[in-house]
Amino acid sequence: MPPRGKTHFRADASTRARVAALMQNPVFAGALALAIALVLALEVWRWSADLSLGEAAMRENSLLTACIAAACLFALVAFLIVRTRGAATATNEARSLSSDNEARLMGIIRSSMEAIITVDERQNIIIFNPMAEHIFGCSAAEALGASLSRFIPERFRATHARHVEQFGVTGVSERQMGGQQRVLFGLRSNGEEFPIEASISQVREGDSKLYTVMLRDITERVKAENVQRKSREELRELSANLQKVREDEKTRIARELHDDLGQQLTALKMDLSSVEQALEDTAEPELLRQLQGMRRLIDVTVASVRRIAADLRPVMLDDLGLIPAIEWLANDFTNRYGIDVERDIEVGDAHFSPTGATTLFRIVQEALTNVARHAEATVVNLTVRVEAAACVVQVADNGRGATASAPSAEKSFGLLGIRERAYMLGGTVEIHASSGKGFVLTVTFPAAAVQQQETQT
Ligand SMILES: Nc1ncnc2c1ncn2[C@@H]1O[C@H](COP(=O)(O)OP(=O)(O)OP(=O)(O)O)[C@@H](O)[C@H]1O
Ligand SMILES: [Mg+2]
Repeated sequence: MPPRGKTHFRADASTRARVAALMQNPVFAGALALAIALVLALEVWRWSADLSLGEAAMRENSLLTACIAAACLFALVAFLIVRTRGAATATNEARSLSSDNEARLMGIIRSSMEAIITVDERQNIIIFNPMAEHIFGCSAAEALGASLSRFIPERFRATHARHVEQFGVTGVSERQMGGQQRVLFGLRSNGEEFPIEASISQVREGDSKLYTVMLRDITERVKAENVQRKSREELRELSANLQKVREDEKTRIARELHDDLGQQLTALKMDLSSVEQALEDTAEPELLRQLQGMRRLIDVTVASVRRIAADLRPVMLDDLGLIPAIEWLANDFTNRYGIDVERDIEVGDAHFSPTGATTLFRIVQEALTNVARHAEATVVNLTVRVEAAACVVQVADNGRGATASAPSAEKSFGLLGIRERAYMLGGTVEIHASSGKGFVLTVTFPAAAVQQQETQT
């Protein structure tokens, strides 16, 4: 419990403060002074009336008038004194409030984690906080009065000064510096350049303007971003290389299965037919039936070998080109899954590069596989168009589209693979899918990226 005396002191003080405030109110003070002056004038008049004992009425009246005039004069003087004192107190109070605010502001500027530099219109430094000292390696004593350009690499100085001037004529009070890329460069006292992120604000002070730049050193962040970007690029290169190695491997195995194994099986089948013919008259019927069974088995094996080889990589992609390979893919898809593929293929006389043809073929193949696995569609629209500057591939189905219960992207690599393949050739991928409204995958490449260059052989 606070001591009683102290509580009492606080009550007295507040009463006194209230009375003082009331006294400083000119209207109240004027009214009070007038009231006091009138009472005094009345007393003087009554006293003089007692003394006069029947003197002339005229003398009585002039005395009364003089008393009232004196009272009014006294009230006016009292009013003016109180008003002047009030004004002086208000000025003192305002002055002390503004110096309090300034001290508070300077405290914030001093403790800020961002470097704060204020410059005048000639770009000479007038505030340089401790963080600015730390970042630029320069004491405030040295920096104050110096030109801001001292902390800007030489090649950016002219541009920077122009930008600040332009900022000065805009009505904007604050903005991020550095335009789109947002990263600027500062210059430490030891001559080292470093990346910064900064914002600038302006205030008018009298006839001139003050500009305040708040900045932070982002060296560490930029380093981390560079490491991350490099690692992402390396992963992309690794992925592209793996794709290529895989594609080469598939091509080689498909070619060997198709040509080597296929031809040997065909030769075996012909040999078997010769044996069958030679033994036709002499052999046991059971043996002949066995020989026929072997021939049928060889046919089935040849078909399997062709299918496996084509699944790996259709030989016609290399032998006949992209469009026949896509036609074959679409027919094979309809035969396997019973889903119609309506085609809109318009490539003119475009000649696809081997990489371009493989990329487009694999994208269509993955998109069709997805339709079979996820869409429950009845029709697919397949578009391949080469226009002036772009090559567009679109696979659109009428299936169930996107579903909320779709598996997490972590275990799905098909669409990711499509994006990676597109990225490698400078293409973009768009997906439009909403529940029950089908799934539309559109990949757009720069036409030159997928076509055979004239100079190439
Ligand atoms: N045509 C489609 N219709 C409906 N949903 C689709 C279609 N295509 C893709 N999806 C959805 O997008 C998801 C991602 O497809 P993605 O091809 O990346 O992976 P996946 O097919 O599940 O697996 P995989 O890695 O074997 O390709 C699918 O799991 C499916 O939910
Ligand atoms: Mg898939």
